[in-house]
Formats: sequence, C-alpha cells, structure tokens
Amino acid sequence: MKSIREADVKGKRVLLRVDFNVPLSEGTVTDDARIRGSLPTIKYLADEGAKVIILTHLGRPSGIGFEADFSVAPAARVLGRLLGAEVLVSPEVTGEASQQMVDALENGQVLMLENLRFDPREKKNDVEFAAELAKFGDIYCNDAFGAAHRAHASIDVLAGMLPHYSGLLLDKEVEVLGAMLESPERPFIAILGGSKVSDKIKIINNLINIVDKMLVGGGMCFTFLAAQGYDVGKSIVEEDCLEDARNMLAKAAEKGVDIVLPIDFVVADQFSESATVAIRGYDEIPSDMMGLDIGPASCELFKSVIMEGKTVFWNGPQGVFEMKPFENGTRKVAEALAANKAATTVVGGGDSGAAIAKFGLADEVTFVSTGGGASMRMVEGCELPAIVALNA
Ligand code: 3PG
Repeated sequence: MKSIREADVKGKRVLLRVDFNVPLSEGTVTDDARIRGSLPTIKYLADEGAKVIILTHLGRPSGIGFEADFSVAPAARVLGRLLGAEVLVSPEVTGEASQQMVDALENGQVLMLENLRFDPREKKNDVEFAAELAKFGDIYCNDAFGAAHRAHASIDVLAGMLPHYSGLLLDKEVEVLGAMLESPERPFIAILGGSKVSDKIKIINNLINIVDKMLVGGGMCFTFLAAQGYDVGKSIVEEDCLEDARNMLAKAAEKGVDIVLPIDFVVADQFSESATVAIRGYDEIPSDMMGLDIGPASCELFKSVIMEGKTVFWNGPQGVFEMKPFENGTRKVAEALAANKAATTVVGGGDSGAAIAKFGLADEVTFVSTGGGASMRMVEGCELPAIVALNA
C-alpha cells in the first residue's frame, strides 16, 4: 500500500473514505473514537492544502434515500469541533448539489457527503455509483479501517478508479495488528470473551497457531466447560459448537498452547441487574443459576497470566459488563492489560473497545483498534477487501 504521505495533495481534490459509523443517541455522537482516529489524516490533508471530500457510511439505513436518523450531520459537527474549522455537509451523496459544493471547495477546506448507504448501490459495490463518486476527486485515500472488511463501492471498486493511497489510521491499524500476528514478542497471550463461540471459532483456530496462551472467559467459556463434561447450570451453551470446542481444545493441546478457562464465576438466578448473585467454582454451578461474569479467583488467575505476556491481545468482554453486578471480570482484565507496561497491549475494538473506554483505560494500552469486525477478520487470517484494493 502507498501511504497518503507519498502523494502530492496540494490543491488536489482528495476523496477520503473514513469509517464514521459512530453510535448516536438522539442526534448526538456518544463515542467519537472513530472520528478522533481519522483526525490525523484529515488534519494532514487540510494542512497540506488538499480539498478534502469525506465519504462515510453511518449505521444501516434502508437504502432508499435520505433518512434523518442516519444523517452524517452529527458526525460532521463533532469533526468540526475537533478540527476547529468548518466542515461543510452536502445534503446528498452524488448529484448536482454535491458537484457544486465540490467545485466551490478551496484548498484546506473539508466537505462531507451524506451517508453513502442512502444510495443502495454502495453496498452492491456498484461500478456506476463508484464512477459518480470518482468524478468528485483527483486522488482516493482510504482511512476506513473499521469498514475494511466490506467490499462496498467506496471501499473496493472506487479505489481502482483513481490514484489510491492508505490513510494514517489505516496504516497504523495494519502495522500494529500485522506485527502482532506476524512477529509478536513472546510470550503472546490472547484473552477472548463474548457470548458466542460460534462467532469466534475462526479466530481461536487461527490464534492457536500463533499464541502461547489463551484465556477464554465470557459466555463462550461455558461451551468449553460443557464440552469437557461439566454441568454449567442455566449458563449459555451452544450445543452445536460442543464438537468444535472439543476440537479446539485438542488442537491447542497438540500445539502446546494453554487454553486457560475461568475457575470461578459470578452466578445469578436470572439475567438481570437485580438478580440474586453468588460466587461458585467452575464445577459447582447450581443447576438453576447461570454464570454472568468470571469470579474473583479467575480475575487473579487471568491477571497473573496477562502480566506474563510481552504481547497481549484482548477481544471480548468477560461478563455482562453493561450490568454493574457483572462488570468486574471485564474491568479486571482491562486493568491488568493497562498495568502490563512491559508488553504491547492491543484491544480488538468492538465491545472490548467500548469496555476499555468505559473504564477510562483506553489511553493506558498500546493500541485500541477502531475496527470491530475488520480487526476480527484480520485476526482470523482473512484478506480485507480494502487492503486488497489499495494494493492493486
Ligand atoms: C463496523 O462498525 O463494523 C463498520 O462500520 C461496518 O459496519 P457494518 O457492519 O454495518 O457494515
């Protein structure tokens, strides 16, 4: 990939694809990490005298034209505040109004087109739609790591229509995740969580080839315990993944990779913040209760393993961290990651990114990926359409 720093952008119209797919509540951006993530690229382009035309999707509109709930305007307001400069917003994606606004841009100015997904052709990777976008620019730059796993028009075919470059955030994401997967300093510890094993089978299978130890918490660990014959009460178990779990345990044993499961849990009589809770060992979960977080002894165990690592990768909460009684395991993992200053510590975006931000520790780790799905695909060992297009 050629980085945008290699391009001569002065006076050029740069089509910059970002991933400003940010959470909104009543028209307000509730987490601006992705906007901050692309800020260095936007500032760089503006400072170098480019005419910056920002393209993004936001949410999953129905693709039948403008829908106020999915407008990029709130993201543009945040960007304007962060830049300390006006960010213009076109009322449409492609079309006459956008063309006029592009034509009127001066060097260093920033314009955002409306949500790409208002046009159904974006998700279809449509060539004509990409050509309409390409007319607005002289150079294409992709900084949308969070959407790099989507073969959509603004990510895939558009790149081939103009001289194409990677943005500074995308460069950083690929560098950090790539180095972690290809040449990690050892020991390399992975911490996985989240509720479903089915979502993580490919990741676990790929990581078993790379890591030294893997900590498995979150709802998915009950499928591993059940696969070994333990009674996990009413805890979540994916029956159709029991065989997969046994295979993964066998593969890990064969490769000499320790899969470390929690040794105790916070169990509850119902999935509720007001549930009656207790601490129970992994082999004493009552039949009428469910595990909703890892327990204190597991937190200690996980911390000691995390502190051994020279590279530590975290993906997936350890419990239902959105509910106060079940947040401790996720908090303790975040704290252990933040405490291990001798290691390269990488958080794989998505829920774990939200969790580390919630605990105020995002700045204490080496890197928090802005891509949930995209970083997962990378850790699974898959090629990302954005990277393929930028390399072509
Ligand atoms: C994400 O948040 O994972 C990306 O922005 C992609 O969004 P999507 O899952 O709606 O394609």
